Amino acid sequence: MTSDSDLDIFLVTLPGLEDALRAEAVEQGFRAPRIVPGGVTVRGGWTAVWRANLVLRGVSRVLARVGSFRAFHLAQLDKRARRFPWADVLRPDVPVRVEATCKGSRIYHAGAAAQRITRAIQEETGVPVSAEAAVAVKARIENDVCTISIDTSGEPLHRRGHKEAVSKAPLRETMAAMFLRQCGFGAAMPVVDPMCGSGTFILEAADIAAGLVPGRSRAFAFEHLATFDPAAWADMRNAAGAPKAPPAEPRFFGSDRDAGAVRMSRENAERAGVSAWTDFRQLTVSDVEPPEGTAPGLVMVNPPYGTRIGDRKTLTPLYRALGRTLRERFAGWRVGLVTSDEALARSTDLPLEPAGPPVSHGGIRVTLYRSPPLA
Ligand SMILES: C[S@@+](CC[C@H](N)C(=O)[O-])C[C@H]1O[C@@H](n2cnc3c(N)ncnc32)[C@H](O)[C@@H]1O
Repeated sequence: MTSDSDLDIFLVTLPGLEDALRAEAVEQGFRAPRIVPGGVTVRGGWTAVWRANLVLRGVSRVLARVGSFRAFHLAQLDKRARRFPWADVLRPDVPVRVEATCKGSRIYHAGAAAQRITRAIQEETGVPVSAEAAVAVKARIENDVCTISIDTSGEPLHRRGHKEAVSKAPLRETMAAMFLRQCGFGAAMPVVDPMCGSGTFILEAADIAAGLVPGRSRAFAFEHLATFDPAAWADMRNAAGAPKAPPAEPRFFGSDRDAGAVRMSRENAERAGVSAWTDFRQLTVSDVEPPEGTAPGLVMVNPPYGTRIGDRKTLTPLYRALGRTLRERFAGWRVGLVTSDEALARSTDLPLEPAGPPVSHGGIRVTLYRSPPLA
C-alpha cells in the first residue's frame, strides 16, 4: 500500500451534520463525497486522509478503510485476519488496540471477534497490542463481511488543540463550524455571540476568516502508521497554514456575563493566534450593542438550555431578553440560535425559519434556528 493507494475514507460526523460536512468536502475538493449514516465517504489515498484530518472543520474523526474479507465464523475470521497485510499500514514498534462491532452476521460476539483479530496481529506481525494504544484498528462485521479500518485521527477532531480552558457547556468546534456554514457565514462577515462561553463560534469564525486550517496545532494518529511520510506531511501542513494579514479592526465579537468565560475566550483566541480578529467583553445580554463601524452580519448564539423539568420557566425571561435586544438593536443582522428547546427558541419572538435536523451533542439534541435579516 503506497501513499497513493485508493481508499474508501469515512468522515465521521455528528448525526444531523452529514449534509453540511458533504458540502464542505465538495468545497475542499475531496473525491466522490457520498452521505452515509453517521458521516460522509470520500475516495482518495493517504495524502487525502491527512488532508481530511487537517482541513475539514465538520469531521469528528477520519477512518481509512484498508481492506475487507468475508468471515462466516470465528475460525475463518482468525485465518483471514492472519493473512491480512497488516504490515502495509501498522508499524512493528507502535502499539495498536482493536475494536470490533457485529451486525446482521453469523459472528455476533464482538468481544470474541476483537480477540481473534488482536491475536492475529500480534502473532503474525509482532505489532504490540495495548488497550491504551493511540492507534485503533476498527473491525466492523456486517452481513458476514469484515471491514478493517484504521482510526487516523486519534483524539477527536473537535479538539483543535487551542482550548485549555473549557466552560460548563461548550459547543463542539465541529458543530459550531457547521452551524456557521449553515447560516451562510462568509469570511468577511462580522459575527457577534452575546453568550459566548469559551468562545467557540467566535474562534471558528475568526479561524475561517484568517484562512487557518483547524488541524494546524495538533497531532494525529496517522503520524504513527507505516504509510506516513513526514516530509510530505510537513509540506502539506506548511502549504495550508499561512494566515492572512489581520484586519484593521476585530470582526468577531464575543461577550458573556461571566468574567471567567470572557477570560477563557481571550486565552483561547491567543493560543489559536486569532486575537487580532476577535474582541471579548464582559456584558449581560441586554447590554449588547452591534459593533460600531461594521456592516450587519451574523449573530450566533447558544444560550443556556435546561435539561430538567422547570428549566423552561426559569430560562424564558433570558430568551425573551435576548430576542428583545436583537429585535431592537440588530436591524439587518441574521441570527443563528442553537438550543434544545423549541418553545424557548420561539419565546425570543425572532422571525425563525423552520429548523433543520437536530444534532445530538453530549446526550442532548440541539437544533439550529435561523432568521432572515432582522427588520
Ligand atoms: C451554553 S453556554 C454557551 C457555550 C458556548 N457556545 C461555548 O461553546 O463555550 C451559555 C452561556 O451563556 C452565558 N449567559 C447566561 N446568562 C447570560 C446573560 N444574561 N447575559 C450574557 N451571558 C449569559 C453563560 O455564562 C454561558 O457561558
